[in-house]
Amino acid sequence: MNNSRIVLHKAAEILENVSPVLEDEVVCAYISPFLEQKQLLLDFSLCYGTPVYVFDEDVLLERAVQFTTVFAQEIPGIRAFFAMKSNNHPAVAKSLVEFGLGLDVSSGLELETALGTGCRHILFSGPGKAEAELDLAVANAEAVTVLIDSFGELERLEGVARLRDVVVRAGVRLTTEEKGMWRKFGIPLAELENFMTRAENFKHIRLCGLQFHTSWNLTPSSQVSFLIRLGKRLAALKGQQAKNIEFLDIGGGYWPSRGEWLHFSATPKGRITQMALPDIRQPERYRYPAEPLEIFAREIGQTLRQHIFPYINCEVFTEPGRWLINDSMHIILTVVDKKAEDLVIVDGGTNIVGWERFETDYFPVINLSNPSLVERNCFIFGSLCTPHDVWGYNYFGDGIEPGDILMVPSQGAYTYSLRQSFIKPLAPVFPLKS
Ligand SMILES: Cc1ncc(COP(=O)(O)O)c(C=O)c1O
Repeated sequence: MNNSRIVLHKAAEILENVSPVLEDEVVCAYISPFLEQKQLLLDFSLCYGTPVYVFDEDVLLERAVQFTTVFAQEIPGIRAFFAMKSNNHPAVAKSLVEFGLGLDVSSGLELETALGTGCRHILFSGPGKAEAELDLAVANAEAVTVLIDSFGELERLEGVARLRDVVVRAGVRLTTEEKGMWRKFGIPLAELENFMTRAENFKHIRLCGLQFHTSWNLTPSSQVSFLIRLGKRLAALKGQQAKNIEFLDIGGGYWPSRGEWLHFSATPKGRITQMALPDIRQPERYRYPAEPLEIFAREIGQTLRQHIFPYINCEVFTEPGRWLINDSMHIILTVVDKKAEDLVIVDGGTNIVGWERFETDYFPVINLSNPSLVERNCFIFGSLCTPHDVWGYNYFGDGIEPGDILMVPSQGAYTYSLRQSFIKPLAPVFPLKS
């Protein structure tokens, strides 16, 4: 078969596969608690203006309790480090540090914020750390563990630490895919022994940990399969090298159990359909279910006991981001203009979330001024000069008019930290006080 035939064959298979529909009852159950908080949220918008982020610290702390309890039951002693890239607002980090979590940072900028919260347990991961960033880590070595990303970085870190005559606690990141885009992260598993041997020559680095991270996990299968591969490697490590490993950091990547909510255009069938018929719009929204956190914890715990702990006696670290922060920030907007029954413009642009998220991801837009459990069709556009500036294609309400206050819930993860200074001002963040 030539390539076009293979593509046509695959496309036909995809078109026949319908994604699971997100049921009305599920969305209504999700928005009902926000409707109960309606007056509080309207008062909030009156007090602070719009567009604005609402930070609900109580929800964040509830999630932190839930996360740590569920994981501790399966993996006693596990320590969680909040991944600041998912939301870099200092109040979020401070709140989680006061709760007792550590922080996972991926740049000098995040490290400065983390140090500013008084955090004493910081992991510094990420590729391509600049010397100035390594130096900041070394200067704060009593609080920071550096997760080294490559052989080159091992040498650079030794150089920086030697200049300050400091010994740095470190781990090494392992790549979970030796082929493809994810090989940008870490070293191949096959190089682990070499890496540890090389590090033994460096007097200013105490290499005592391993890290990996897999992403966008609706189930624990990626984490589990990498742990099994890692176990095989660890079984072959020489005695002292295995003894030197004090911690294993299993990264983050836990999807909130609500699952992934998508517009038709983001489903496999929708992507193909839209290429052929760009204006087609499907009213349904779709849901890819995610396993509850309990399943992640149980399966990862079992795999650790079976495949890792027989070879190394170590602490387990994890770096959750999205799961912790997603539901504790929301966006509030005001309708500025109504250009047709089915088209309104609001005062905030999607620059405040930094990407064209709502072209693919479905989130309900709730009209707090005129609420209802009925969803009506209407283009909800932002006020940037681009047609991609869209918040949604429907809203929950009994009508929509200029001056109405709209809410887009659960915008805590990979929004605030991706915000862009583009045309319109950025939205401030204020705490919700009940
Ligand atoms: C190294 C590392 N750890 C943790 C995370 C957090 O992932 P998530 O927000 O999906 O939990 C990321 C996200 O990209 C990451 O790169």
